[in-house]
Amino acid sequence: ANQRICDKLERPLQDLRISIMDRCNFRCSYCMPAEVFGPDHAFMDESELLSVDEIVRTAEQFVQLGVKKIRITGGEPLLRKEVPHLIGRLHAIEGLEDLALTTNGVMLPKMAKALKAAGLQRVNISLDALSTETFQKMSGRKTKPQAVFNGIAAAKDAGLGVKINMVVKRGANEQEVIPLARYAKELGVTLRFIEFMDVGQTNGWDFSYVVSKKELYKLVSQIAPLEPVNQAYYGEVASRYRYSGTETEVGFISSVTETFCQSCTRARLSADGKIFTCLFSENGTDLRADLRKGLSDEALQRKIKQLWEARADRYSELRTEETAKTRKKIEMSYIGG
Ligand code: GTP
Ligand code: 5AD
Ligand code: SF4
Ligand code: SF4
Repeated sequence: ANQRICDKLERPLQDLRISIMDRCNFRCSYCMPAEVFGPDHAFMDESELLSVDEIVRTAEQFVQLGVKKIRITGGEPLLRKEVPHLIGRLHAIEGLEDLALTTNGVMLPKMAKALKAAGLQRVNISLDALSTETFQKMSGRKTKPQAVFNGIAAAKDAGLGVKINMVVKRGANEQEVIPLARYAKELGVTLRFIEFMDVGQTNGWDFSYVVSKKELYKLVSQIAPLEPVNQAYYGEVASRYRYSGTETEVGFISSVTETFCQSCTRARLSADGKIFTCLFSENGTDLRADLRKGLSDEALQRKIKQLWEARADRYSELRTEETAKTRKKIEMSYIGG
């Protein structure tokens, strides 16, 4: 049977988020602002990225150590053409219970069926606005929101579970909260509102841009009364509600105003093979060199176990305007949300 290991704050290692690609076809202002991630930006070389074999081997060690849920992220993970193959390999790992992917949705019309066939269970799709103007402002590109609507439809048609993620930033897209909530309700898809966070060092975060869960809840309640839904699993990041008398849910990911570090069970693997024990870590621990010089499974597991057992991260609980500005945090597109 697989192990269960806990960190310094008694939090078990349960989830692994794997970024497989630091590039993205969007330039969301809160994640990869176009002014910073311009044409000259140095992304990872092909040779720096973990190969499918290396990702799978790493994932296997994590599952042995108790991971039950794996999420593939980026950048935009679907820019790697071998994702369906990767999903198939991960799906075959014994002991894994949940396999999901986070995407901007644009490639889903092409890939949803293959992903489902390979064993992917569900996708979380980012969508920050319905109106073309605001959508393009938020995503930093000329792509139309229709491309994402098509992605959502393709994922549903393929039989994948679908949630929509909306990052809300004051002065940028709060006017889209109600329209998006209506759109998702109509589709019967769960929408989750995410408080704008100070990830990375480039997104110009300031507390005044954060639209709190409390405000969002009030706004969405105008559509229909909400009733709470129990969490689906220990450590779930969203607090969940349903519109009274329906099965359709909305969630709030309040990583600024109601932190959830206390039950944070997530480890992160960057596309170049570093492990991060927090979304706001300054440094990762390299596994790629170990993989490439042929370290044994036992030795890999020992390294990961030591790292997890030494973990005491709880950045969101400690956040201040000061840390938001001065801490040398890793970029979200590097670490994968
Ligand atoms: P489900 O498995 O469907 O519940 O998804 P998830 O919320 O675990 O994954 P998703 O990629 O959809 O995450 C949505 C957003 O939640 C992320 O982009 C982050 O903004 C936020 N988030 C997820 N995990 C963490 C975390 O450990 N810390 C913080 N501060 N935010 C997180
Ligand atoms: N604050 C909150 N959420 C963010 N995401 C990216 N950057 C930020 C940020 N600064 C979200 C995206 C997507 C997920 C991968 O991360 O919207 O849903
Ligand atoms: Fe790309 Fe997602 Fe970051 Fe937007 S939030 S730039 S879609 S990785
Ligand atoms: Fe986990 Fe760090 Fe996010 Fe807290 S801030 S929930 S410890 S990833």
